[in-house]
Amino acid sequence: MKNKVNIGLIGWGTVGSGVVRILKERKKHLSRRVGAQLRLKSIVDLDINKARSVKVNRKILSREAKNILSDPEIDIVVQLIGGEHPAKDYMTNAFKKGKSVVTANKALLAKHGKEIFKLARENNAEVGYEASVCGGIPLIRSIKEGLLANKIEELRGIINGTSNYILTRMEEENYSFNEALQEAKKRGYAEADAGLDISGLDSAHKLAVLASLTFGTSVALSDIYVEGIDLITLQDIRYARELGYAVKLLAIAKEKQGRIEARVHPVLISADYILASVRHNFNAVCLKGDKVGELIFYGAGAGQLPTASSVVSDICDIAGKLIRGGKGRVNSFLYDALSKKVSPINKLESRYYVRFTTLDNPGVLAKISRILGRKNISIASVIQKQRKEGRTVPIVMMTHKALEENMRRALGQIDKLSVVKGKTVAIRVEEV
Ligand code: HSE
Repeated sequence: MKNKVNIGLIGWGTVGSGVVRILKERKKHLSRRVGAQLRLKSIVDLDINKARSVKVNRKILSREAKNILSDPEIDIVVQLIGGEHPAKDYMTNAFKKGKSVVTANKALLAKHGKEIFKLARENNAEVGYEASVCGGIPLIRSIKEGLLANKIEELRGIINGTSNYILTRMEEENYSFNEALQEAKKRGYAEADAGLDISGLDSAHKLAVLASLTFGTSVALSDIYVEGIDLITLQDIRYARELGYAVKLLAIAKEKQGRIEARVHPVLISADYILASVRHNFNAVCLKGDKVGELIFYGAGAGQLPTASSVVSDICDIAGKLIRGGKGRVNSFLYDALSKKVSPINKLESRYYVRFTTLDNPGVLAKISRILGRKNISIASVIQKQRKEGRTVPIVMMTHKALEENMRRALGQIDKLSVVKGKTVAIRVEEV
């Protein structure tokens, strides 16, 4: 029986260094649990001379990925590089050589998941992707194995630490958007391109993975409606608070009558709801299973050791299967071949918070409410605080449930009114 599993690491960056550290520090514990020795046989990185916090034998270092991909002794390739290329080529090469791959590359899985998992399946290889969503939170394994008995009906989460950090700092410290963003960058939460965090795309990458796994169907990135936090201002956060809500960037996936809803956008959620109290860079996901009921997963969604903790867990899972000659309790693929339709955002029914920037003149509210009324949108409450005759003021409205396509058409018309002096901000209310 095999008593050693050889590992090759491609990408000796922040998370890669964390993995090296854990494999070293927890060597005995991990071998005992897995039932075999885990040997880090080879490390590949473009820069092998940069100082790292953990020392390794220089003999195992090189700059060429082929030193890992062509080494017949290597069983598991831990691939911790971002971007699509060459990450995708390395991964497919590994599968073709019968090697399993552990990855944290959410963008790659979101864009090419279908092809990647098909190839892995054809080559009897495993894919470990726990670290691709919510860093250190063991969410993928919980959905894949722990919650197997359940049909998960809905999932809501804060799955981007950077945008949550920005919103928290704006709310608690009155930071401007840019001040908060600079701080998030400094603390290392943001992606190399922070635009991915702010635009909601990083959350959408993660939601594509989560929703596919949860509903057993391929939810493509292009199926997900995405809006970021770039239009959220401090005044929206303050108005929301006054109305009893918090503003959060949520990833939401639901299955209703066989159709999937998958969207990422800012929402107003009740200040009493558990996700409203998730602060700073923390991530949290609430799930509802038909057998287990409500669950919440909370923890560090990024960072060196939390993410490395998930990577090491995947390494051990795959190593254990290799040692015992089995494929484990359930297959490691992202989804079954189920085919379910994804609803377009236009068909969403939601309550809305809407902030208009208008002239403070008689008849303005009547003009706006006439358009809303014609589109079957009913107003629940209105706030106008300041009196600045002839100048612009914010008017904040809460609506009753309305159809998204009606809201879009109404706002399109309202923004063309001569009394409206800025782009109207509309934020959906997520009722829980
Ligand atoms: N930029 C990501 C975040 C890192 O802020 O959550 C973890 O994926």
